[in-house]
Amino acid sequence: MTDRDSFIAGLSSLLSGGEGDPFRMMTVLANASAYLFERLPDVSWAGFYLRRGGYLYLGPFQGKVACTKIALGKGVCGTAAIQERTIVVPDVHQFPGHIACDSASRSEIVVPLLVDGTLIGVLDLDSTSLGRFTGEDASLLEKAAQVVTAHLS
Ligand code: SME
Repeated sequence: MTDRDSFIAGLSSLLSGGEGDPFRMMTVLANASAYLFERLPDVSWAGFYLRRGGYLYLGPFQGKVACTKIALGKGVCGTAAIQERTIVVPDVHQFPGHIACDSASRSEIVVPLLVDGTLIGVLDLDSTSLGRFTGEDASLLEKAAQVVTAHLS
């Protein structure tokens, strides 16, 4: 098994079970954010924003306190959400409209969460290192996002 396979298998195993639990979505997102934050090196924030109407609202996360509400189309999160594609930002200072929740953040990746083709939110990771996230991370986190959404209901 590759490191990538075992990372994804570990996430899947962590999130399995609990079908029918009253707060399953919160439980799954909370543990998923903790897993990503613990397992991935050089990450300063890992968590979820959830979509309702024209906004993304702060969901479970690990890291410093963060902005609570982001309009679709705004910041890295709102841009990834409206374009429904992963955005890797090697240097947040070069991203027009980047929303700085933590002034120490230097790079970021945002992956959309889609359920049956509908955007339900985004997965967001930050780092205090420039260029922390690669295309390989994008592929890994897209797979992780699929595992998360598969465990939400
Ligand atoms: N930087 C994000 C805001 C969320 S925080 O990074 C947790 C953005 O520009 O959308």
